[in-house]
Amino acid sequence: MDYGLAGKTALVVGGATGIGFAAARLMGREGMQVAVADIHADSARRGAERLAEAGIKAVGIRADVTDLDDVKSMIAQVEGALGPVDVLLNSAAVLDDKLFLESSPQDWDRMLKVCLYGPMNVLHAVLPGMVQRGFGRIICMASDSARVGQARLSYYAAAKAGVIALVKSVAQEVGPNGVTLNIVSPGATNTEMRQAREEGMKASMGDEKYARRVQSVLKMYPTRRIGEPDDIASAVLYLASAQASWVTGQILSVNGGFVMP
Ligand SMILES: NC(=O)c1ccc[n+]([C@@H]2O[C@H](COP(=O)([O-])OP(=O)(O)OC[C@H]3O[C@@H](n4cnc5c(N)ncnc54)[C@H](O)[C@@H]3O)[C@@H](O)[C@H]2O)c1
Repeated sequence: MDYGLAGKTALVVGGATGIGFAAARLMGREGMQVAVADIHADSARRGAERLAEAGIKAVGIRADVTDLDDVKSMIAQVEGALGPVDVLLNSAAVLDDKLFLESSPQDWDRMLKVCLYGPMNVLHAVLPGMVQRGFGRIICMASDSARVGQARLSYYAAAKAGVIALVKSVAQEVGPNGVTLNIVSPGATNTEMRQAREEGMKASMGDEKYARRVQSVLKMYPTRRIGEPDDIASAVLYLASAQASWVTGQILSVNGGFVMP
């Protein structure tokens, strides 16, 4: 299938690892040039090198989404190296595994800065150009925890719920300008972020209890497996494609049937 993406430019924020990297690779295979931005300069550079090794034109850029000046500089660097941003994927995030009553305002602050202000900063910097050019595809990663709640992820879920509201509202404002915004909402996906959380649980629970947890998690998924980054990247590719030009302000859960909100 021709997704109508060849020759276009994608910016993947938080694209050095996990879902962002898988989406960057998939879009690159469709003939897009790809900028990989990440808070870790080495990871961003390594991500771009891995794409280049796969024959994809790519650049790696260090940027912290919590800093609007950094974000503006990131957009200018992408435009200088690859041209205007046609497709933006916001994948940067942090995760905290904590009961709400054990969390502090400092925890909430860090979470909201990365997971809510981050997408706001990036949208604010990238949208003027898209609106002016009359074309743009924006995909933000949320989480089903934002739709149905999840113990130990309360303020992460709250930040992601904010992103959903942001995307739906901005989609109404810029739809007439040829810009679509949508959400991909993954279930548990086998990435560095999830692996770090699982390692922490294994250490605190012990091997036997953790093995029982793994089995009970799998039972919650009608498909009896957790996701792989490419499962989620395929949804990103669809929402970036010409085939999705009449889809905006929507949430696409890619979750093996974990919840059906
Ligand atoms: N993996 C899952 O199970 C899962 C489930 C639901 C939702 N999600 C969402 O999907 C997206 C991708 O998750 P992932 O599992 O691939 O995560 P990941 O940790 O593998 O990737 C996130 C990337 O964001 C970068 N990042 C963190 N803070 C940043 C900042 N301030 N500025 C720039 N970059 C920053 C990290 O360095 C990392 O490379 C996230 O938005 C996450 O919330 C993931």
